[in-house]
Amino acid sequence: MNPPAHPTQQALRRIGPFETPAIGLGCMNVSWAYGPAVDEAQAEAVLLGALDAGATLIDTAALYGFGRNETLVGRVLAPHRERIVLCSKGGMTGEPVGPGGTLQRVIDGRPASLRRHLEESLKRLRTDRIDLYYLHRWDKAVPIEDSVGELALSVARGDIRSIGLSEVSAATLRRAHKVHPIAALQSEYSPWSREPEIAVLQACAELGTAFVAFSPVGRGALTSRPPDPATLHPNDIRRGMPRFQPEAWAQNLALIGEFSALAARSGRTAAQLALAWVLAQGPHVLAIPGTTRLAHVQENQATLDRPLDADTLAAVDRLLPAGRAVGGRYNAVAQGEVDTERF
Ligand SMILES: NC(=O)c1ccc[n+]([C@@H]2O[C@H](COP(=O)([O-])OP(=O)(O)OC[C@H]3O[C@@H](n4cnc5c(N)ncnc54)[C@H](OP(=O)(O)O)[C@@H]3O)[C@@H](O)[C@H]2O)c1
Repeated sequence: MNPPAHPTQQALRRIGPFETPAIGLGCMNVSWAYGPAVDEAQAEAVLLGALDAGATLIDTAALYGFGRNETLVGRVLAPHRERIVLCSKGGMTGEPVGPGGTLQRVIDGRPASLRRHLEESLKRLRTDRIDLYYLHRWDKAVPIEDSVGELALSVARGDIRSIGLSEVSAATLRRAHKVHPIAALQSEYSPWSREPEIAVLQACAELGTAFVAFSPVGRGALTSRPPDPATLHPNDIRRGMPRFQPEAWAQNLALIGEFSALAARSGRTAAQLALAWVLAQGPHVLAIPGTTRLAHVQENQATLDRPLDADTLAAVDRLLPAGRAVGGRYNAVAQGEVDTERF
């Protein structure tokens, strides 16, 4: 007999005006972040295979590959537009900087900039409306009311269906929500990144805002193939993250080993245990794992086939209580760019 279903685990969840399976697809990885872009055929197989597996909440951003990821998503998924909930982000993009005009990551939440980012995203995505459009980072030089006010105008024009925020605090969410209902807040959340528990999960529940967990399998750490930080590709962004540095990693690897053993005892892979744990934190929580491999999409999606039992949920919390992971999730520069609460 199957263990009793955890009451908050359900396959379909609400996000703004949409209902989707609780696990979607983070598309970033096929173009950027943890090494070079994968070839187009592989990326296409991942995106199309995700739809077949039920991962129809599709997450991209203007930032990923400085537009390349949106272009790919537009090319591959435009023919399937009505099957997906298409989510993208602006306010943090690749912009030509300096005399050579090299593209660099720039946070810019000024209304005119957001309007331009959105126009460019719509073209790359080959659509006339984005279902959920996030402010990727709050540009602290611009009042959040001004950035969200511009996105509210985009809703009124019909260019976007709903508004999201990324990596903001509960206080900023509440300010923004007064300007326009915020459909979703996206932040890092997994058994080893618990900061949203300080205030954001509760604020989202109160406001009717979905919480979308990014990096829900710990940027690869909470899987059956944890990365080896010593051999990461030069472009891999984990090279700059404190918890992947050698001293921290040695301690984290011991925890990861215990996490994997717990997953095996419960008849799941480590990634499935991480995802099931995330979804058990509230009926308003969704997750967008990212991967370059179709087999991993299918493994992640299969999490939804079997709800997590209360004993395993409690065992994860005993093994990885808030603050247990060694090293912060961001270095000082990246931490300065976000607005999230910290332990
Ligand atoms: N709003 C933001 O600021 C922000 C920041 C980061 C990410 N995101 C979004 O969130 C998405 C997911 O986050 P993420 O990619 O950083 O972290 P993640 O989903 O926690 O981890 C991705 C890593 O885990 C591996 N992986 C995934 N499933 C696996 C499985 N079943 N077995 C073994 N390995 C597995 C992937 O490697 P393989 O390729 O080998 O599977 C990849 O290296 C992104 O794609 C992006 O859309 C948003």
